[in-house]
Formats: sequence, structure tokens, C-alpha cells
Amino acid sequence: DFTVAVVLPAGGSGERTGLSTPKQFCTFLNRPLISYTIQAFERIAWIENIVVVIAKDSIDLMVNIIQQFGHKKVKVVLGGSTRHRSIFNGLQAFGESEEESALKKPKVVIIHDAVRPFVEEDFLLKIAIAAKQQGASGAIRPLVSTVIATTSEGYLDHSLERAKYRASEMPQGFLYDVIHQAYVQCSETDFEFGTECLHLVLQYCGTNARLIEGPHTLWKVTYKKDLLAAESIIKETLA
Ligand code: CTP
Ligand code: MG
Repeated sequence: DFTVAVVLPAGGSGERTGLSTPKQFCTFLNRPLISYTIQAFERIAWIENIVVVIAKDSIDLMVNIIQQFGHKKVKVVLGGSTRHRSIFNGLQAFGESEEESALKKPKVVIIHDAVRPFVEEDFLLKIAIAAKQQGASGAIRPLVSTVIATTSEGYLDHSLERAKYRASEMPQGFLYDVIHQAYVQCSETDFEFGTECLHLVLQYCGTNARLIEGPHTLWKVTYKKDLLAAESIIKETLA
């Protein structure tokens, strides 16, 4: 069994862009960003379902986008107040077949931010295979900047040796049972270590993820300048 499904968290409001429209719905060449990301997954034959997690206020918009662009593999699920909760809601869309509305539980689930549209099949396959073999996998990138810890007074506390650290990016892949188990077990509060999925599966399931360096195109649209960059890449490559 090597069924693969995808959860795309897209329930955020994109505060850091400073725009009133959430970044996943910003439009380039008449198509919203999230539709490019969905398309990247939908084109891959071995991906069965794509669960998009959407904030309440944007559900109608998302349903329209699905109709307008003819997305076929997509199911819409209601988001939560944090990315962590949105992912949990997305995972809950899969279940045992008694529930009528539930999608068939996949062997592997790939989690990927809706605002990283330039993901490619060859890298997704590496992530899916590693997830099946190890239980979990994640994309990493070298750090651009050195990370420092600061004191509450705004002075240097300590600095980390950049070469030893990596940025955790998306996509990440998991055996569905492992990530679901981790989310069921973790309480929604009092995280000692943040809500990094790779850490959750280690903490709650003892599953240590295989980390794979991904291409720089996995970068996440976060600020307004990233929307401009995404637009120019879309115009050059995807349109
Ligand atoms: N996300 C989500 N549910 C939330 C918050 C975020 O599904 N409650 C999603 C975002 O829509 C995005 C992904 O998680 O696709 C990555 O999060 P981030 O880049 O932080 O997006 P936003 O939270 O929307 O942006 P910001 O932090 O600037 O407000
Ligand atoms: Mg956020």
C-alpha cells in the first residue's frame, strides 16, 4: 500500500504581508496562488486526495476557486485558530470508511503550505518514499542568516554556529498513523518545544524524521516582496 494524500494548510490571514487579502488568495495571471499550489499536486498521478484547510470566512471563495479552475481531487476542511490546529483538522478529514464524508485513510500524508507553489514531483517523491520507510520526513535548507538568542533587555545572549543548523521547510511527509497519533496525543497547550510536526512525531511516537535538503524554490511566501517574487516566477514558468 503506497497511497499518498496531501494536507494543505491555508487557513491563515497572512498578517505579515500587510494586505487585507490572505496571501493564498492573491491572484497572478487571473489565478489565485492556492490554485497554483493545488495544480502542482493535482498533476501528480500518485497523489489521491488534497485536503485544503480554509478559514471560515474564505470557504465560499475557495469553493468558487475549485469550480472555476476545475480542481478534482480537492476536499475543503474548516481551519483552526493556529496552523497547528488547522493541520489537525486537515488530518481528521481521513478516517475509516464507516463515516460517509471521510476520505480513505492514506498510507502516507504529505503536509505542505498552500503558500509554497513551486513544489515539484521529484522532490515530493523523495519525501513520500522516506516517509514510508522512516515514518516521517522533512525538507530542510541551509540557514541564510545566523541565529542569535537575545536577552529581554535586547542584548546578545548567545549565537548558534550557522553551519550546524538547518531551516525546517515544507513539504513534510508522514505515515498517516504516526502523525495522526502524535496529534491525538498532544495537548493543545503547554508545548515545551513549539508545534513543529517533526518534533511532535519524535516526542509522541518516537519517530525520528529523515531530513532531505530541498531546492530553494520551496521557499514560503511570507512578505509582500515574496508575492512580487512569486508573481515573476509564475509569469516565467507556470503560466
Ligand atoms: N495557516 C493555517 N491556519 C492558521 C494559520 C496559518 O492553515 N490558523 C497556514 C497558512 O494559511 C499558510 C501556512 O499555514 O499556508 C503557513 O503559515 P504562515 O506563513 O504563517 O501564514 P499566515 O499565518 O497566514 O501568515 P502570518 O503568520 O503572516 O499571519
Ligand atoms: Mg502564521
